[in-house]
Amino acid sequence: MTFPARRIRRLRISPRMRDLVQETTLTARDLICPVFVQEGLKTRFNIGSMSEVERLPLDDVNGEIETITDLGIPAVMLFGIPKSKDDAGTSAFDDAGIVQESISQIRQNFGDKIVVVSDVCLCQYTSTGHCGILSGNKIDNDQSVETLAKIAVSHARAGVDTVSPSAMMDGQVAAIRTALDDEGFTDVSIMPHSAKHSSSFYSPFRDAAECTPQFGDRRTYQVPFTNAREAISEVESDINEGVDMVMIKPALAYLDLIAETRRRFTVPIAAYNVSGEYALVKGAAMQGWINEKDVMTEILYSIKRAGADMIVSYFAKPAAELLRS
Ligand code: PBG
Repeated sequence: MTFPARRIRRLRISPRMRDLVQETTLTARDLICPVFVQEGLKTRFNIGSMSEVERLPLDDVNGEIETITDLGIPAVMLFGIPKSKDDAGTSAFDDAGIVQESISQIRQNFGDKIVVVSDVCLCQYTSTGHCGILSGNKIDNDQSVETLAKIAVSHARAGVDTVSPSAMMDGQVAAIRTALDDEGFTDVSIMPHSAKHSSSFYSPFRDAAECTPQFGDRRTYQVPFTNAREAISEVESDINEGVDMVMIKPALAYLDLIAETRRRFTVPIAAYNVSGEYALVKGAAMQGWINEKDVMTEILYSIKRAGADMIVSYFAKPAAELLRS
């Protein structure tokens, strides 16, 4: 059928008609809110390059989780900033570390009212700022994987629901699954940053988490932004290693990969709407060049339309608030 018999605009004739044919939905339940907790911090610290995102002291974590659950957001993703860093990243698997303390505090106070996802990586904890452990001037993949498994187990001991390895080391998912199961944590799920690209969109996060590499870059472990098949291979190998969910990261410049992952696999897909994507919107809004709420909404819907089941976003709180009203 073609024009004039076919008039697609009939579906847009009124708000109610548009509601009826709306294909993509977005609710607070689709969102995961990142939370930064810093060891030894006294009061909330504003992250300059990420307007309205703060690092929290441990004492503020409960209040923050309350705000997040009140908004109907089902999950948080915890990032820790430790007091001390060393070559081996030992503060990352310390049972009394900042993330471990946060997890157990949330677990005690909120039970199953919130899904606690923890970032499992080394870059905040190593003196080099790299996501793996160096031997000489090279990342030692297999030794890094062993440490990542230790971190995951320490988070599990604290009561985490889901561990989210973001180091992009080969074999990290299999090693973590085995280590968790060996320790009896068969119910702890894994949501790795599966296709994590070497991206310039992460720079505000590196201010937030103090994890800028002290030399070189992350190109020997993160996926080049030019390679889609390689990204899909990362997703596929993670699935084969035993994930529960996969993640594509960043989100907005990588919608094709979200869609491709949706077409090929059945696992739940998370998309990480990263710090640089947030900063672009905030920066333009502060200049008065765009309407922040409208652009935020459009971006989040686009990520869902591409096929994501859930979105990790620094917009989680304002988006949930807007969606509620
Ligand atoms: C590091 C990590 C990064 C992000 C999440 N975990 C930064 C990096 O790889 O350099 C980026 C998140 C964001 O930009 O919002 N493991």
